[in-house]
Parts: sequence; C-alpha cells; structure tokens
Amino acid sequence: MSKPSVFVTRIIPDRGLAMLRERCDVRVWEDELPTPADVLRREVAGVDGLVCLLSDRIDAALIEAAPNLKVISQYAVGFDNIDVKAATARRIPVGNTPGVLTETTADLAFALLMAAARRLPEGERYVHAGKWKTWGPMLLMGQDIHGATLGILGLGRIGQAMARRARGFNMRVIYAHSRDVPEAASLGAERVSLDELLARSDFISLHTPLTPATHHLIDAAAFGKMKPTAILINTARGGVVDPDALYQALAGGRIAGAALDVTEPEPLPADHPLLTLDNCLVVPHVGSSSTATRGQMAVMTAENLLAGLRGERLPHCVNPEVYA
Ligand code: DGY
Repeated sequence: MSKPSVFVTRIIPDRGLAMLRERCDVRVWEDELPTPADVLRREVAGVDGLVCLLSDRIDAALIEAAPNLKVISQYAVGFDNIDVKAATARRIPVGNTPGVLTETTADLAFALLMAAARRLPEGERYVHAGKWKTWGPMLLMGQDIHGATLGILGLGRIGQAMARRARGFNMRVIYAHSRDVPEAASLGAERVSLDELLARSDFISLHTPLTPATHHLIDAAAFGKMKPTAILINTARGGVVDPDALYQALAGGRIAGAALDVTEPEPLPADHPLLTLDNCLVVPHVGSSSTATRGQMAVMTAENLLAGLRGERLPHCVNPEVYA
C-alpha cells in the first residue's frame, strides 16, 4: 500500500522528522529560508498532510490548492498564520504544540526582562568596544527587578509561568485578562484593567495571542499611559505592538526600554529604526528554542500529523469543531 504523502515546509528536529519518514512519503524544503509561496502552492497540490511553521502563510487559497489535504500540523503553539476557518470549512483538523514550550518561553521572557532592566546588551557592547577603562560610579545604571511591579497582559499558560518566575524575584504581579483566571490567586496576581496595568507596571510582559482584537493593542495611546521608566517585553507576537509607536516611545523617552523576541515585521530588517536604539533589545523569535523543547515540539507535530492521516482525533487540535 502506498504511503501518505507529506510536505514539510522546513527542516525540523530529527525526532519528529524520523517519525514522519517511517510512515509517510516525506518531502522537506531544506533551505534556511521559508518555502516560497509559489513552491508551497505547487507542493501541496497532491499531499495528504502538511507540516508548517509560523513563517508560512496558510491561507484559504493555499488550502483550496490542496484537494487531498487531510491534516495541517503546525510546529508552534501560535497559529495566526493559518486561516483556520478555511481549514474548518474543509473539515481539515489543524494541530499545534501547546504546553511543551510554556516554561522555555517564560524563561526567555524573564531573561529579556532582566537583560533590559540591567542593560546587559549595552554593557556587552561597551566592553567589546574597548570602552571599559575603570569602575564607573554611575556606569550603566539600570532598574531593580526585586520589588518592582510586573504587569502581565494575558495570564494564560506562558503568562502564569512568567508570574511564577516574578514571584521568585519578589516582584508584585498584576494582570489584565478578559476574565478572572482561577490560578491567579495561588500566583498572588491581582487582576486589573488594561489601563491600570499600563499605569502601574514597571515591566509589562505581553502573553496574548495575535487576533484582530489584539492587533496593535499596544499603540501610541497605550505608551502614553505607561510610566516613563517602564520596560516592555514582548514574547507573544510582533503584531500586538504598533512598531512606529514603539519607536517614538523609545526614541522620545516616553518609556525606558523594550525587549522583543517578536516583531512586526518579522524578521526586522537590519536597517529598521528600532535597531538604531540602545534601549531596544531584539532577539530573533527564539522563545521556545531550547534543544529539548524544539525536539519535543517536533514529536508533537509528528503525532498530530500522523493522527490526522489515520483519521483519528489530533492530540492537540485548534479547531475541534471539525469532529462535531
Ligand atoms: C510559538 O510556538 O507560537 C512560538 O512563537 C514559537 O515557538
């Protein structure tokens, strides 16, 4: 019997790829850059399964171009790059990788918070540039983390993991969320309105998915409500922050700093104005990038895909209504 055919839009860790290769005819786009849209469209034409990344645009037209497609498996927890409605209309289940990357992403969010607070990238640049001549009584003074207020926008899995880290550093934790989060009590986190969060926080960490409602939620008006000493951390999605407003806020001293794992656009071009600022730390969307976590994400991606090909319910499905 012939094996189902699967296209994988980029090389993912071998733990997952090996599972796929054992049971399917697998074609992998082996370039370092994403599969070009026209190639992707060609490749999906005959496939039964698709493994994709957050950098691939899986829209209605692409899904339309894949008449045999039985399952889409995303190697990420976020899936704002996929037209889930279009997939659901075709009764194609879409899988993702929740849970496994929670702690790893929170580790990075907290690392960004600490690095921005204590101006680590500036310090490193200073030393590398040969400027370190003596101990400086006022050199690179940053902000205390202990005792500061952390505002968490979106107290889901990763937001809660961030709150746990903050408690260990003796921070006060407040959060804004569309509803009361039951876990908040044990985290000592107080629910406040978005405006109150913006006004009270020394550090604001974004942990909300990108949806039409959260697109550019952090705009000029939001920056206007923050403390001038505030530091913004974004490990969620770049589109939650208006990049022009962020640039103005940082360049004009409206807020003290930002530390970004995600940007709009992504990747950020090397000549982007944000990269000219000393108080803006940017890393290349590596929140979940530990060897163990990315390996486990690959396994979950393969498990979702294989379940979909067998016609079974995906272990992690973002559109369970396809099973109704
Ligand atoms: C995700 O999974 O959505 C992250 O942004 C990348 O791991």
